[in-house]
Amino acid sequence: MGALSIRLLETSAEAHACATLLAASEPWRTLRRDHQACLRSLEDPSRERYVAYQDGHLVGCLVLNLLGPFVGYLQIVAVAPECRGSGLGSTLVAFAEARIFREHPNVFLCVSSFNHGARRLYERLGYTVVGELPDFIHAGYSEFLLRKTLGPCDTYQPAAPGA
Ligand SMILES: CC(C)(COP(=O)(O)OP(=O)(O)OC[C@H]1O[C@@H](n2cnc3c(N)ncnc32)[C@H](O)[C@@H]1OP(=O)(O)O)[C@@H](O)C(=O)NCCC(=O)NCCS
Repeated sequence: MGALSIRLLETSAEAHACATLLAASEPWRTLRRDHQACLRSLEDPSRERYVAYQDGHLVGCLVLNLLGPFVGYLQIVAVAPECRGSGLGSTLVAFAEARIFREHPNVFLCVSSFNHGARRLYERLGYTVVGELPDFIHAGYSEFLLRKTLGPCDTYQPAAPGA
């Protein structure tokens, strides 16, 4: 396998390719997020959106929200089905953490109550459950809010610009 490259999403074709990946995959299928709904997140300019390539193939994507009260939100992480289980997802989460921790001491994310594999992965990576949102996206399912933290906001020293 060639080197992994992660960069900002640039083209509408990339956004569509990522939306196709998400809409065909859990948890979005069960949550009834179709191609259009996924595309809205991937085309939202208020989000930082990244694509991951390996050997010229799009192998994953990330959407980060660096605005709002619970700042540092990892909104979407996905790996192409044929590439899962070999460390790519962990690498994408580490990339998201490095980006967010440059400015903020917390990374937040939500995981659906039926997405046991992803929750196991996050817990292994140091995330803890800080809340449950019952019936949040779809009736009958909870979203668990997870947090990984470097410490309190008021004493946090963001990295110097350009560092
Ligand atoms: C969750 C996801 C990003 C992890 O990517 P990955 O490349 O498989 O992750 P890694 O290889 O670094 O780690 C593998 C771990 O991921 C978790 N995992 C979750 N879903 C998985 C899947 N479909 N296939 C393989 N592993 C999966 C498991 O914990 C697995 O380890 P374990 O079963 O040995 O405990 C990826 O499986 C994916 O895109 N799933 C569908 C979308 C999704 O659930 N996104 C998260 C929404 S909160």
